[in-house]
Amino acid sequence: MTVDSSTPAGTLLHPFADPTKAEGDFINIVSAEGTTLTDDTGKRYLDGMASLWYCQVGHGRREIIDAVTTQLNTLDTYNIFDPFTNDRAREAAAMIASKSPHPDGRVFLGCSGSEAIDTALKLSRLIQQRRGHGDKQIIVRRTHGYHGTNFGGTSAQGIGPNREGWGDLVPHFVEIANDNVEEAASLFAEHGERIAAVVCEPVQGAGGVWPPEDGYLQGLRRLCDQHGSLLIFDEVICGFGRTGSWFGAQTFGVTPDLMTFAKGVTSGYQPLSGVIVSADAAASLGTDDKAILRHGYTYSGHPAAAAAGVANIQLIDDEGLVDRANHVGKKTVEGLDALAADGMIKGYRGVGAMWAADIGRDSIPIKNTMLADGVIIRAVGEAIIWCPPLTVTDDEVGRYIETLQKALS
Ligand SMILES: Cc1ncc(COP(=O)(O)O)c(C=O)c1O
Repeated sequence: MTVDSSTPAGTLLHPFADPTKAEGDFINIVSAEGTTLTDDTGKRYLDGMASLWYCQVGHGRREIIDAVTTQLNTLDTYNIFDPFTNDRAREAAAMIASKSPHPDGRVFLGCSGSEAIDTALKLSRLIQQRRGHGDKQIIVRRTHGYHGTNFGGTSAQGIGPNREGWGDLVPHFVEIANDNVEEAASLFAEHGERIAAVVCEPVQGAGGVWPPEDGYLQGLRRLCDQHGSLLIFDEVICGFGRTGSWFGAQTFGVTPDLMTFAKGVTSGYQPLSGVIVSADAAASLGTDDKAILRHGYTYSGHPAAAAAGVANIQLIDDEGLVDRANHVGKKTVEGLDALAADGMIKGYRGVGAMWAADIGRDSIPIKNTMLADGVIIRAVGEAIIWCPPLTVTDDEVGRYIETLQKALS
């Protein structure tokens, strides 16, 4: 069967792509093993982005593939809307909570980061309403923030172009700078009684890898506490070892009320996401026995996705990959230091196994040169982003640095 269709672009409409780009101009990835991808011409690539910031354990891991297969052979699929549940969904929820700062919290499950964020935004307003604070509707977002592309996440984004062209978004979103706690304090001083929540990536990812300024997250926590607002950490990228702890919350020592996760929870082997809700916040959801949670997704608690989560978390544990993120960071920094000393890059920023090299000029041509050389990275503004599987070897970190150096020179 051919993939050609009646339109020059082909049938498949790609996300975050020019809709007129011909299907034949995309790179057709046909297989993956470890940190290596192969396209349909046989060309091999180093997966320096863990696909889209998610493949913590690398590709082709039998442990996850077998767990999903076993699950599909047992209970292939069934929903968990009342009155149903299933063992894998329960197990995944318990495991996820146990790794988080809320081991006694509740875990809602969905499929994508965008679903997780929209859930967290809705829950934060619902919690405020059930606490008797119906006026608290404002959601505070941060410049450079990326929170997915559903209407809630689009409204929560601090990347202007992604919010444009869709008509009216969700009301009551207010933006603050991503690094200025005084600005946040002024907003709270003026509107604190109306702020439902602040939504915040511990390290901003898609916006260009921006770690928080010292004390910034603590400042947001304090402001939320003072004004009865909820702090939401969007841990869709940061979660599951990426920042050198299970969650960014632990890396930076700040505990949010709600935490979203996706991506690394299954290393992408199955679509799974969710929201961890603190015990205290969750208590406000069930204020009486008529307090139904009128929110959920068909595939919430999908047993095959949950099985992938359980096997993946086990693998991260067994192989010490959370610590390994710090080692990857150390090796990356050694290489970036050398490039900075040679004046090839202006600087770098990051934590754990997510890094941005500031090259001081448009990074897209460098990305394209590196891609031609078989190393996949991401270009954001003047930054080259590196976010590999946590299993990446020291030699592969070296290959990234060499390829970047070659492209820059
Ligand atoms: C921090 C953050 N939140 C939410 C999302 C949305 O996730 P998804 O693309 O799975 O909907 C992303 C995706 O990159 C993300 O980085």
